[in-house]
Amino acid sequence: MKIVAIVGSLRKDSYNKQLAATIQERNMIKFDMEILDLSVLPFYNQDEENNPSEAVIVFKKKVKEADGVIIVTPEYNWSIPGVLKNALDWLSRVDKVLIGKPVMTAGAATGLAGTLRAQLHIRQILTAMQVKLLPPAGNEILVSQAAAKFAEGKLADEATNKTVDEIVDRFVQFISE
Ligand SMILES: Cc1cc2nc3c(=O)[nH]c(=O)nc-3n(C[C@H](O)[C@H](O)[C@H](O)COP(=O)(O)O)c2cc1C
Repeated sequence: MKIVAIVGSLRKDSYNKQLAATIQERNMIKFDMEILDLSVLPFYNQDEENNPSEAVIVFKKKVKEADGVIIVTPEYNWSIPGVLKNALDWLSRVDKVLIGKPVMTAGAATGLAGTLRAQLHIRQILTAMQVKLLPPAGNEILVSQAAAKFAEGKLADEATNKTVDEIVDRFVQFISE
C-alpha cells in the first residue's frame, strides 16, 4: 500500500513534519509512505493550470498514484496554512486527482486546541474537493501542547502514539473498504 503525506508546515523542525515522520516510521511494515515537499510548488495560477511546472506535475502524479493521503497540518490563525491551501488548490483542478481518494487529517499545535479549528476548515475544503474523507468522529488526531510531546525528531508521548496508531490502522482499513 502506498501512502503520501502532505504536511502544512515548511519549518525545518516542524512538529507536524515530526508527526508525519513518526507515522511513517511506526507503520513501515504496513505501508510505504512518502512525505511530499510543498516548498517546491509555485503559487496556484489558473493561467498555468493546463501547463504547470514540473514540480506541480510530479506532485500531482504522486498523489494520483497513492492509495491514500494523510494531511498533517498546523493551525495558522484558526485556519490552515497558505502552503497547504495552495497545494490543495493545485490538486483540485484539471485532472482533480483527489476526487474519491481516501484522505485522513491530523495536526499538532503548541496550544491547547491542537489544530481543532484548522481541522474544521480543512474538512469543509475536502468536502468541496469530493475526497473520501475518513469520518472524523473518533478519528481525530489533535496533538496539543506539542513542545512537551515531541523529542529527538519524533512524537515521544506514548499515549498519543497509541491513539495515532489506532486511527492510522482504521485509515488503512478504510482505504480497502
Ligand atoms: C503564523 C502562525 C499562526 C499561528 N496560529 C495558531 C493558531 O491559530 N492556533 C494554534 O493553536 N497555534 C497557532 N500557531 C502556533 C503553532 O501551533 C506552532 O507554531 C506550531 O509549532 C506550528 O506547527 P509546526 O511546528 O509544524 O511548524 C501559529 C503559528 C504561526 C507561525
